[in-house]
Amino acid sequence: MIPEQAFQPETLAVRAGTQRSQFNEHAEAMYLTSSFVFGSAAEAAARFSGAEAGPIYARFTNPGVTMFEERLAALEGAERCVAFASGMAAILATVMGLMKAGEHVVASRSIFGSTVQLFSNVLGRFGVETTFVSPTDPEEWRAAVRPNTRLFFVESPSNPLTEVSDIRRLADIAHAHCAWLAVDNCFCTPILQQPLQLGADIVIHSATKYLDGQGRVLGGAVLGGKDLMEGVYTFLRTAGPTLSAFNAWVLHRGLETLHLRMQAHSANALELATWLSGHPKVSRVLYPGLPSHPQHELAMRQQKTGGGIVAFEVVGGKDAAWQVVDATRLLSITANLGDTRSTITHPASTTHSRMSPEQRAAAGIGDGLLRIAVGLEAVADLRHDLARGLDAL
Ligand SMILES: Cc1ncc(COP(=O)(O)O)c(C=O)c1O
Repeated sequence: MIPEQAFQPETLAVRAGTQRSQFNEHAEAMYLTSSFVFGSAAEAAARFSGAEAGPIYARFTNPGVTMFEERLAALEGAERCVAFASGMAAILATVMGLMKAGEHVVASRSIFGSTVQLFSNVLGRFGVETTFVSPTDPEEWRAAVRPNTRLFFVESPSNPLTEVSDIRRLADIAHAHCAWLAVDNCFCTPILQQPLQLGADIVIHSATKYLDGQGRVLGGAVLGGKDLMEGVYTFLRTAGPTLSAFNAWVLHRGLETLHLRMQAHSANALELATWLSGHPKVSRVLYPGLPSHPQHELAMRQQKTGGGIVAFEVVGGKDAAWQVVDATRLLSITANLGDTRSTITHPASTTHSRMSPEQRAAAGIGDGLLRIAVGLEAVADLRHDLARGLDAL
């Protein structure tokens, strides 16, 4: 039999990881059960000791969750994937599974608002300190390293500014100091970027976003080598931030169309970003697929396309930005991204509102900034919806 890694992503997305029950169903089944029955006391003991593979209890083993994990691992080129209830649970589990009090994280300062809170306010209380640095200046990462640094954490492209980090260079710096590099690959998905192939040790996903792709369920995942993932899995097994069987089934379906959706999101985003760049009320557009993006060349080296997220700054600050948001009729005013339906958000007052004004200023998140997660509608309709607010400024 041909090993799964030999197949193209399109094939892996619909075939990898499939397990069938005794009924040999074509579409994979959903396993709604909290526990699994053993044939004998000896079998129960063998499952618990790990001597025999097989499901035990749905907090840490469910065939439907395993199918999602194996399909995503095949797409990322990872030895192992551990699924979680949400992206934030996946990030928490990475730290709880691999680090201890007294150790140190170097993280990009341009990361999702709740991730900043997790590192600075939650993990800080448990003795894991974090230093925040520029996503685009690898020398700041090198300078921030301490003898107790264990983890580098980056999102590329970042949320909401789409800054692109040099994953290979950050991996080299991390490895030179015996630290691991974790990449939140939420914006690109494995279809556009495979951080493990660029030298990263850990990939993290909010599966809530493009992996589902239709705004239906929450989920998360951590991927990497078998040894590292054992620590992450042990945290899952013990603490229980488990992906539900239903959500795993939905996400497994989502992966099947991921490559088609990522291509369509990217094509729409490029067209919309190009149009926004020419609008007189837009002072700057940030989209990695545009030659004007500060890290365009790097983005085109490590990503297949620019992805589906466009950030832009309107002339007139917060009031003007809110006016554009409120004038939309088609775009959904919601903080989620990665949906087939386009969404618009004002990061300073929503996703990044828990950051202090100083933290936002340092991260470059101005009051006039808007973020659009470009969906699969006709670009002409999206343009028309945005022009209503922009033309009135
Ligand atoms: C880049 C990024 N990482 C992580 C998360 C957290 O994911 P979740 O909402 O599934 O917990 C988000 C959520 O918006 C995100 O945008």
